[in-house]
Order: sequence, then C-alpha cells, then structure tokens
Amino acid sequence: MASCGKVYKIAVIPGDGIGPEVVREGLKVLEAAASAAGMKYEIACYDFGGERYLRTGEALPESAIDELRTFDAIYFGAIGHPDVPPGVLERGLLLRIRFELDLYINLRPVKLYPGVWTPLKDKHPEDIDFVVVRENTEDVYVGIGGWLKRGTQDEVAFQVAVYTRHGTERCIKYAFELARLRNKKRRVTLVDKSNVLTYGHELWRRTFEEVAKDYPDIEADHAYVDACCMWMVKNPEWFDVIVTTNMFGDIITDLGAIIQGGMGVAASGNIHPGRTSMFEPIHGSAPKYAGKNVANPIAAILAMQMLVDFLGEHETAKRIEQACIRALGSGKIKSMEAGRMGMSTSEVGDFIASLASE
Ligand code: IPM
Ligand code: MN
Repeated sequence: MASCGKVYKIAVIPGDGIGPEVVREGLKVLEAAASAAGMKYEIACYDFGGERYLRTGEALPESAIDELRTFDAIYFGAIGHPDVPPGVLERGLLLRIRFELDLYINLRPVKLYPGVWTPLKDKHPEDIDFVVVRENTEDVYVGIGGWLKRGTQDEVAFQVAVYTRHGTERCIKYAFELARLRNKKRRVTLVDKSNVLTYGHELWRRTFEEVAKDYPDIEADHAYVDACCMWMVKNPEWFDVIVTTNMFGDIITDLGAIIQGGMGVAASGNIHPGRTSMFEPIHGSAPKYAGKNVANPIAAILAMQMLVDFLGEHETAKRIEQACIRALGSGKIKSMEAGRMGMSTSEVGDFIASLASE
C-alpha cells in the first residue's frame, strides 16, 4: 500500500481513562518517525467513549461506522468508565467496530524486548517471540443468548458460541501465511478445546488440518488451551504462531502480555487485510492512573508501529520499533509498570520520539 506522496487518513479514538495520555505519546512518536521517513498522514480525532456516552446516551453515533470506513486505519486508546456499567462500551463501541468493520484477525505479538523484565525465570528475549492470531468476529463474542425465568430460582441462561467454516478458515489461512512471512520456526500451533467442545472446535480442528495441507513447508502443531497456558510459562520458546478462537485468544494474550513484560508493552491489531483496520494497546482504561501522567505509553506506541506497518510504511514502522528497542535497552525506563517507570508518560514518549527521529 505504500506509495510515494500518499497522504494516509488515520482516525484517532483516544477513549477513556489513560487512553488519551498514551495515544498522545503514540502520535508524538508517529510524528517524529514519519517526518524522518517521509511518510505523510492526517488525523481526525473522535471523542467516543464513556464521557460522551454519559452525555448523549449513545456509545457510537449512527454515522460513525460508515465514517470510520473512509480512513486507512484507526488508532484506538482504551475504553471503560467507572460510571458506565460493564458491557455497554465494550459491546456498543469496541466490539461493534470489530464486528461491523469485519476485523476478523486480532493480532497480538508476544515479544520480550532486551532490557524488559519477565516473571519467567531463566527466559530471555530469544525465548519469548511469538504471535497470537486470535479470531475476532465469532465465538461467544457474537452476543447471542437469552434468559429463561430471569431472576427466579429456576433461572436458565444461554450464551451461544458461533463458529463458521468461513470465519475459521480465513483466520487459519492468515496464521499460516504469517508463519511463512515471519520465516522463523515456521510452525503454527492450533489452540483449542476440541476434546470437550466436540462441535465448534471439531470444526476448527478439521479446517486446520485441511488448510495445513496447502502449507507443507509449515509445521502444523496442536495444543489444548489448558496445556497451552502451561507451555507458555514453561517453554515459550516452542511457539511461533498460535491460532485460536476469540475467547481463548482473549485469555491467553493476557498471559502472553505478562511474560513479555506486562500490559504496559503489549500491542494489538484488529485486522481485515486490505481494509480499514484498528490498532490498540491491549490494556484497558486503568481509571486509577488516569490524568496522572504515569501510564506506560509503550504498548500504545507499539500499536502505532503495527498500524504503520499495516499501511505498508515499513521505514516508519522500523524507526518506531528500533526507537522502542533502544529506549528499553537503555536501562533508563526502570519498570514497565505504571507509576514505577522512573519517568512520566510524556517523558517516555519524548525519549522514544527523539530516538525515532535520529
Ligand atoms: C481485549 C479486551 C476486550 C475483549 C474487552 C474490553 C471487550 O479484553 O481487547 O482483549 O474481550 O476482546
Ligand atoms: Mn482481553
């Protein structure tokens, strides 16, 4: 997609809590890296989030989705507001964008950078470098369900998990293509619970085996999700590309985040190849740190790196990642935890931006 003279259009949704603070640093680093690399872009900011919901009663205005489609990419901070009941913003905003833009891949790199502390004893950057390809539009996230006799002692609740051949296949294909592109261990591990979910995950298993036949150069590997959690701690070096369902992907990537140094450094992309896609740190809005200039902006900065890379602006992306690597390796950022960095949010952003423009 990279083309000389193209001016990219990026929609920015800072959101709630620490979202605006970390997004500001991501944009700062983009500015430094893009001007050094000659990448041109314009941004449009949207105030979607908890405050706006409390004011207007709507999580997203009707026109928002069509408007977002006109951008090359979306940069998202975080949502979640203490005065808004759980689920309202998640379903009305974040999941709505993921579903309506059909962002069927949730790409979550798990990479330990040199200089970053991991809780795993005797594991080093060369041991922790894999990617989770999380399906992003199906499973229990479809929001299909209901109650019977609600509020009574006989209450029954259903929450339906939906898996389609189409949704499963496109996700698995993406994972195999990615394993080729990475050209590292050339292994895709399917993570499921097909020993218990003998319908939905049997579909995943069967689809995986069929797709794998088209990739004889890539090892097709399998782990049940419970065992996967154990291996991620004991032998993370085994993994190259993990492909998994939406809910399991959600859960194992929090585990992935902590082994790579914590929520402060974990980035993600909600992707539909070739279409408007959305990039965000995987952390939430962390209201207790909001407005204090103490949150770690590196996850948001690395999400920006993924965004720019997705646009095909590889030089800008490389500058951002190298700047993060140098900053993390410098030993100047004392911890990845909010409030313990020995620097403020904006100082970390300034530091990385200055390295990105060199
Ligand atoms: C994530 C989050 C979301 C999810 C929530 C906020 C709906 O936990 O991006 O991992 O479950 O996907
Ligand atoms: Mn999550």
